[in-house]
Amino acid sequence: MSSHIKSLLSTHELKAEDVYRIFEKASFLQQMHSKADPHRISFSLNKSKVVASLFFEPSTRTRLSFDFAANRLNLGLVDFGEKGSTSLSKGETLVDTVRNICAMGPDVLVIRYGIDPEVDSELKKLKIPVINAGSGITSHPTQALLDAFTIYRELGTLKNQRVLIVGDISHGRVAQSNIELLPKLGAEVAVCAPDYWMPQKSNSFQNFSDLEDGLKWATVVMPLRVQKERHSQESHSINMNEYIANYGITAKRLKFFTSSGILMHPGPVNVGVELDVSALADKRNRILDQVNNGVWIRASVFAEVLNLNLN
Ligand code: CP
Repeated sequence: MSSHIKSLLSTHELKAEDVYRIFEKASFLQQMHSKADPHRISFSLNKSKVVASLFFEPSTRTRLSFDFAANRLNLGLVDFGEKGSTSLSKGETLVDTVRNICAMGPDVLVIRYGIDPEVDSELKKLKIPVINAGSGITSHPTQALLDAFTIYRELGTLKNQRVLIVGDISHGRVAQSNIELLPKLGAEVAVCAPDYWMPQKSNSFQNFSDLEDGLKWATVVMPLRVQKERHSQESHSINMNEYIANYGITAKRLKFFTSSGILMHPGPVNVGVELDVSALADKRNRILDQVNNGVWIRASVFAEVLNLNLN
């Protein structure tokens, strides 16, 4: 029997061999799509498999790339839609919503949600594969996979890459998943953030107080979105002009960054905050490559958890 992951709740359970198998399938699907007439790519056997897509928090890239991925594989997809058109608006809980949707018989569940320990434990009990599309402030495994895949494709290897994550680390599930995944693949991770957004375990990895020092060290720089919706009341006193002056990435600052490096961002970008227009125009920008890679990584994760035969 071929080895494959059964679910993807976090990067914690991924081994390096799982990650490279996911990369291989993603590359295969991406190449097949670019070379062949897409209408001739047939996964007719997949038609009977149905994905339930439940996004309880806003999303553009993740939700739509799961939709694209399901389409490319010829899987059926049922989307939960807007909260207002569902019984969540009548007070049904997220856990009951998940239970009811699972009672309808999907073959795989894709889910994004906020901080909700009841949903966390419910998902672990489900009999079908579950793919975490971003949960709370701790986990976004498919984003970390597509980030790692982008580094691998663009720089040829993850081994000995030095990845600098900048900004709102403590509220960023992307940061937590990347900090967990990238070292398993041989990359070093460092953070550069103001004290108020430093993660709790910041002593366990390198951190830079000065962005230019961090840029001189890095081969990959990854600023993160400032997550205003997750900030508590006291955060309102944060001076954003000061933050931008110290941590905003500009073309001038990118002069300290190696010419062979790459600039990434999980999106959505607050233009003028994490990155300004001059930084976005830099030839090292790979943000849209990340988005494209996200479709194929998610297709590969579907192939894994459903154990699809791609040949
Ligand atoms: N990177 C990411 O999760 O973007 P979305 O919130 O648009 O899905």
